[in-house]
Amino acid sequence: MNIQEYITAHKDRFVDELFDLLKKPSISADSNYKDAVLETAKIVKKRLEEAGCETVEICETPGHPIVYGSIIKDPKLPTILVYGHYDVQPADPIELWDAPPFEPVIKKTALHPEGAIFARGASDDKGQMYMHVKALEFMTKNDTLPCNVKFMIEGEEEIGSPSLEWFVKRNQEKLKNDVILISDTGMIANDQPSVTTGLRGLSYVEVEVTGPNRDLHSGLYGGAVANPINILAKMIASLQDENNHITIPGFYDTVIDLSDQERKAMAAAPFSLENYKKALDITAVYGESDYTTNERRSIRPTLDVNGIWGGYTGEGAKTVIPSQAFAKISMRLVPNQTPDEITALFQKHFETLAPQGVKVKVTTHHGGFPYVTPITGVGYKAAEKAYEKTFGKKPIPQRSGGSIPIVALFENELKSKSILMGFGLNSDAIHSPNEHFGLFNYFKGIETIPYFYSYYTELMKA
Ligand code: BES
Ligand code: MN
Ligand code: MN
Repeated sequence: MNIQEYITAHKDRFVDELFDLLKKPSISADSNYKDAVLETAKIVKKRLEEAGCETVEICETPGHPIVYGSIIKDPKLPTILVYGHYDVQPADPIELWDAPPFEPVIKKTALHPEGAIFARGASDDKGQMYMHVKALEFMTKNDTLPCNVKFMIEGEEEIGSPSLEWFVKRNQEKLKNDVILISDTGMIANDQPSVTTGLRGLSYVEVEVTGPNRDLHSGLYGGAVANPINILAKMIASLQDENNHITIPGFYDTVIDLSDQERKAMAAAPFSLENYKKALDITAVYGESDYTTNERRSIRPTLDVNGIWGGYTGEGAKTVIPSQAFAKISMRLVPNQTPDEITALFQKHFETLAPQGVKVKVTTHHGGFPYVTPITGVGYKAAEKAYEKTFGKKPIPQRSGGSIPIVALFENELKSKSILMGFGLNSDAIHSPNEHFGLFNYFKGIETIPYFYSYYTELMKA
């Protein structure tokens, strides 16, 4: 039986099993869901065993557990390490979901005439992670697994993988591999596959501006003391100039610019600005001067406010000057910016922006290094052949704007490259209400992965 026939024969079960995973609210950020996270890990373990893994264990960490499984056919054969995550983002704002986030349903959409699975985690990353489990099942049941395989599925990706470094450092030997395979990104379109060759890094800070020692009457004091919200708004606004260039001194010093040739190659990838605007209901795009939308969202660093609060936000009007104002700010980084350097530059600059009369505090959250991989390696070539086989088209290499901080750590600690074979679409609404994953994408992923295994093993022998 070939993989297409296998999928056709087991389609419904593949969907039902994914539904079981999607029904668990494995929200890693919220400690109220700790039990659901553990139950999800247990399901992943059971499914890996059923798919033919020889050893499967739930590995305790200081945080949520990591599920590890393996099949070692012959130590002389190449070893693929599959990485994915079973945790998900919080579902709020829940009222904007058309159906409850943890009660998966299939609905047709314009981009998915054959249907898409709607649920939190459908695309990021339960659906994409589970494609690998089903691909493995096919290979073991049909005795076509050509190499060794290890699975490492974590439960903390959405909170910055705080325990994974701990785990990787303690398990170097166990995790030894020739290549890491990850489906946690997207592709251009269902008729145009792409392989993700880069990820942005991340620096994430929280800022606090404190003015007077208590909230004040805005009539009695207004105009005479610094209002922390007014000040914070000014400080944030000054972080970008009229060209939407970031004004933090030294911010761009280490950025590697792309050559004209590389930019040209990027511009050749199919992209419709009209459709992009239409999908977001915006009349114009916005960003750094002299760069295209595709460049702005992948090869350029950014600075964005993720949340801002303070003062009175309840019903009606309350005349008050707040004592404090707060914001969460993220910066997406590109090679060769490092999170520590950029965070330090931000902190130093932000503190100097504060006028007299307020105190500023900057605290740092998790960060991550950017990543790029060349298209000359065996891993990329194997992926290219696999897509060509199942899509009838060569994939386009594409750098993504998102971050998977652990990928750079894998390179440093395990000395291996990651191949990012993502089957999601940008329109999947990951992290948003109504997240979904196309059935086409789910099955196409399951179909493509076994070819990666065989081409990779072949090319490694050559
Ligand atoms: N799977 C995403 C990252 C992603 C999505 C990369 C699409 C490329 C294309 C991952 O789960 C994620 O959300 N990462 C976070 C960072 C993390 C430290 C919370 C992100 O990019 O914001
Ligand atoms: Mn993800
Ligand atoms: Mn995510």
